Amino acid sequence: MRAKDVRERKGDDEPLTMLTAYDAPTAEVLEAAGVDLLLVGDSVGNLRLGYDSTLPVTVDQIASHTAAVARATDEAMVIADMPFLSFGADPDEAVEHAGRMLKEAEADAVKIESGPHTVELTERLTQLGIPVQAHLGLTPQHENETGLFRQGTDESAAKQILDLAHKHERAGAFSLVLEHVPANVAAQVTESISIPTIGIGAGPDCDGQVLTIDEVIGLSESVAPFSKAFGDVRGEMRSAAEAYIDAVGSGEFPADDHSHYEDDVDDIY
Ligand code: KIV
Repeated sequence: MRAKDVRERKGDDEPLTMLTAYDAPTAEVLEAAGVDLLLVGDSVGNLRLGYDSTLPVTVDQIASHTAAVARATDEAMVIADMPFLSFGADPDEAVEHAGRMLKEAEADAVKIESGPHTVELTERLTQLGIPVQAHLGLTPQHENETGLFRQGTDESAAKQILDLAHKHERAGAFSLVLEHVPANVAAQVTESISIPTIGIGAGPDCDGQVLTIDEVIGLSESVAPFSKAFGDVRGEMRSAAEAYIDAVGSGEFPADDHSHYEDDVDDIY
């Protein structure tokens, strides 16, 4: 799926579905399930790499996880999340980092946690042929400034999100993630712009929805109030590991079926 295909889904009866993916087998399963967009989110930091936040995640780490996801997919759009400080300081460096995601990791697009400082960058990347998904509302890379709380909850904050949505639309963003904003704010942003909105904790009226895969499959220890576990992979993983430990302990595994013997190597000492 390319940026133009995503744009064409604006207002479609069938909402866009986006999930995070950080590795090849997960990407393969999610594509087979029919997910439209795979986001290699910087949430890999806290969900998979053991960090307390997304801030330590590096360009190399996102490039490596993105390449794994891209190798495993044909149809789904692969979006690389630009990590903290990989953009926003030096515009040329930001172009280089975003370019690496397409050239080296074979992403189809990048996502940028957006604000007033990313409008020009969005325009430049789009002109260069690097599709940009903007991200407004709660932007966890700003957690030291804003905390991880609801955004756009008063009139002036909501108007700022609306204004930034329009600025990024004009700059060429092909879609917009809206995170943890009131559903009525997301509905108005969605109605007033021409690019698809993809909500997370932003109510039912966006053009699509995104969640982290760890929450959806029930792998993470906890689930955000606006998210939902649709499976119990954590429980399955633990019971498989316990069954393995029991089977090794009891001698039930490995059985003859799992072993092989060769006549010529019976007497080696
Ligand atoms: O990094 C991430 O997983 C994200 C999504 C939650 C939108 O940015």
